[in-house]
Amino acid sequence: MLILGIDTTCDDTSVGIVEDGRTIHANVIASQHMAHERFGGIVPMIAARQHVKNINLIIKAALEEAGATFGDMDAVAVSNHQGLLLSLVVGVSAAKSIALAQDIPLIGIHHLEGHIYSNIMEHGPELAFPFQCLTVAGGHTLLLKIEDHGTYVLLGHTRDDAAGEAYDKIARRLGLSYPGGPIVEKLARAGDPNAFAFPRPMIDKPNFEFSFSGLKTAVIRAIEKLEQAGEPLPVEDLCASFQQAVVDVLVSKTLRAAEAEGLTRIALAGGVAMNSLLRATLDEAAQERGLRTFSPSPNLCIDNGAMVAGAAYYLWRHRGPSALTIDALANAPLGLHNLKYKHASKYKV
Ligand code: KG4
Ligand code: ZN
Repeated sequence: MLILGIDTTCDDTSVGIVEDGRTIHANVIASQHMAHERFGGIVPMIAARQHVKNINLIIKAALEEAGATFGDMDAVAVSNHQGLLLSLVVGVSAAKSIALAQDIPLIGIHHLEGHIYSNIMEHGPELAFPFQCLTVAGGHTLLLKIEDHGTYVLLGHTRDDAAGEAYDKIARRLGLSYPGGPIVEKLARAGDPNAFAFPRPMIDKPNFEFSFSGLKTAVIRAIEKLEQAGEPLPVEDLCASFQQAVVDVLVSKTLRAAEAEGLTRIALAGGVAMNSLLRATLDEAAQERGLRTFSPSPNLCIDNGAMVAGAAYYLWRHRGPSALTIDALANAPLGLHNLKYKHASKYKV
């Protein structure tokens, strides 16, 4: 079954073509980073306009990459939940038009399902249910227990900034490029992770919640103090110390949650999952405890259309196609019907 998947949830226009949930025939991503860079973050109206400009070209490019035509597609999938509303609308409209014109099923998924399924696409049955998924990106940071196709238990999430958002904001304050993650990681390699004793927010709380806003503020305060004293900024040390704090919190909470839930398989997903320190630290700590870790390859970590097509294959088999009347929803809980909020009762702060 060949599915064309579209993701326009945020600032990248992406289209993928995937066969039977695993074989990627195309994965084309049009990055808008240049358009947003001078603003130091994503400007929703600019993102929507860029999607409008790009969407037809990217669909065409994906079909060319796959050596396929619209007529070869068995279904069209789109992330219609969670993201910037005007951006989502562009992808949803395109997907509906293709479904209608080709008379093929439309499959709407939650953007986070794409991130989660990037692991299932890549690792297949090796990553058996139930497993834990730490989804860390620019717009979200959450710990989930994936019980079955389309059934998720929310163990914890960030109460303020997402981890990637903290990277982006620190990079912006340091005058670095957007998105901040890759450049902060690169500079951190030459820095001392113990140079600054930044806080590890909520690390000792008996829950699986995160908070990155206080850490971000602590880094910004340190920068201000140095600037006021007229001292040169030790950018590498600042990046390394900040990154170490983020990784310490993410890894510690993830392992504690896995232990509490008796989960032996841990998957990483989202843009921050590309971070090598996070991957290496989690891999090592998990191995010591006899747990297995899984992560997608880089082109499936960032927002992309292939993960949408991959997730849609499994979710279509599980919950059927969507109606042509599906909405674009900026804020919608994952799975809508199937998310269980475990942390709220059991892991209260
Ligand atoms: O998954 P993604 O493309 O978009 C969202 O769904 O948010 O993730 C983008 C985020 C950005 O915040 C970016 O700074 C971060 O992922 N990121 C990284 C790295 N590469 C991208 N963060 C840390 N280390 C990286 N190497
Ligand atoms: Zn994402």
